[in-house]
Amino acid sequence: MNKLSFLRYLTSSSSFGRNKNVNLEPVVDSNELRKTDFGNDFYWGVATAAYQIEGAWNQHGKGESVWDRFTNKPGNVKDNTHGKVATDFYNRYPDDLQLLKSLNFDNFRFSFSWPRILPNGTGQINEKGIDFYNRMIDASLELGIEPWAMLYHWDLPQKLEDQGGWSNRDMIGWFSEYADLCSRKFGDRIRHWMVLNEPASFTTLGYLSGMHAPQQSGIAKFLSSVHHACLCQAAGGRIIRNNVKNSHVGTSFSCAFTEPQKKSARHHRASQRLDVMLNRLFIEPSLGMGYPYRELPFLKKIDKYIFPEDHENLKFEFDFIGVQSYFRVISKPSLLPLIWANRVKPHRTAEVTEMGWEVSPDGMYDIIMQFSKYNVKELIISENGAAFPDTLVNGRVNDQQRISYFKRYLHNVLRAKKDGANVTGYFAWTFVDNFEWDEGNRPRFGIVYNDFDTQERTVKDSGLWFRDLLG
Ligand code: GAL
Repeated sequence: MNKLSFLRYLTSSSSFGRNKNVNLEPVVDSNELRKTDFGNDFYWGVATAAYQIEGAWNQHGKGESVWDRFTNKPGNVKDNTHGKVATDFYNRYPDDLQLLKSLNFDNFRFSFSWPRILPNGTGQINEKGIDFYNRMIDASLELGIEPWAMLYHWDLPQKLEDQGGWSNRDMIGWFSEYADLCSRKFGDRIRHWMVLNEPASFTTLGYLSGMHAPQQSGIAKFLSSVHHACLCQAAGGRIIRNNVKNSHVGTSFSCAFTEPQKKSARHHRASQRLDVMLNRLFIEPSLGMGYPYRELPFLKKIDKYIFPEDHENLKFEFDFIGVQSYFRVISKPSLLPLIWANRVKPHRTAEVTEMGWEVSPDGMYDIIMQFSKYNVKELIISENGAAFPDTLVNGRVNDQQRISYFKRYLHNVLRAKKDGANVTGYFAWTFVDNFEWDEGNRPRFGIVYNDFDTQERTVKDSGLWFRDLLG
């Protein structure tokens, strides 16, 4: 960290908790970070996901998803909340989109709920589900907001999970049918598409550790799911490009810059292994590099699931890669042979978010530079943000720490851009506080506060900060 950013770091962290009075004046000196520094064609947006916002879990013919099933089981979600209502975006989208526009955002990332469109996963189409997305997309466009569609953000139809879900090779056919349907129905109005949200997260948490839906575990389920997700990622890309004129097709990866705790060769190897799992496993096959076995030999077992034609089918040249990064990871070797490395907890003096994630703006720079070494056309920061314990006082949420977080991360995005990385957009996670998976409603990531009892929205100071930056 250089002197200037160190100073900025000190001043911003020392201002927490001040300024409690309601004050609708701009909350930041706009000279500090300028929209124009990022270029006139830079995409500024917010990112959301169907299960986390829509609610309406059984309205108008929607089928059950693995997350409906998971959240129904007591104890699975830390605060016992669920996504049955979430932020009720299904019914409140017109107001939410207007609010988004009033904060000067021009891009809105959402995901389609697969079981809302195809309740059984394949076959019978739910026209009311199609109708909802048509209305929502049209409302965005009328406001001058560009919709960015994500095909899959984790809410798999339960009917498909009953047949093995991602660990079943039939997934390639199921997913292709779904991708074909969405791109045909909505491709006349949507140009920007993304195929999978963070395959490393949903395969690791859903099919290896079982911490997330559908609570499956084991190496075989994990490796087969990884391979099928890689094949679907490429197949989805091809289908969209084929069906949508002038499409801008990407997919997203969860990434975290990894560093060894110590300089020893063992620590270095541990860090490389974690880097494979966190950052390389899903992008390299799509670039024709195959699976990164060398640093993590246990991945060789994936060969069992590879058919000869797959080598070619894994490849797809995306128009952009969505980088989703929140923190860096420090690693140390593990004594257990099956585990690739251990993560070291952030130091007790480190600034952490409510999720326990270390605030590491330099890590954003490093991971962008790492990804920009791959031969990809564009990088888009398709998610970044932070949960902090917000309080609503006299109609205001004074979330200076979140503003400081965004400023520091955005400075590092800019720094990477200046150093040659082709970053073309930034999407804040997230718009309105929503349902945070197994953590429930407690962690608030939004730039807009949500009262989950009344569904009343209050723009946080960070929302006003974005409004002023983008205005
Ligand atoms: C991402 C995920 C989002 C959101 C975010 C914050 O991994 O794609 O759905 O939950 O993390 O935790």
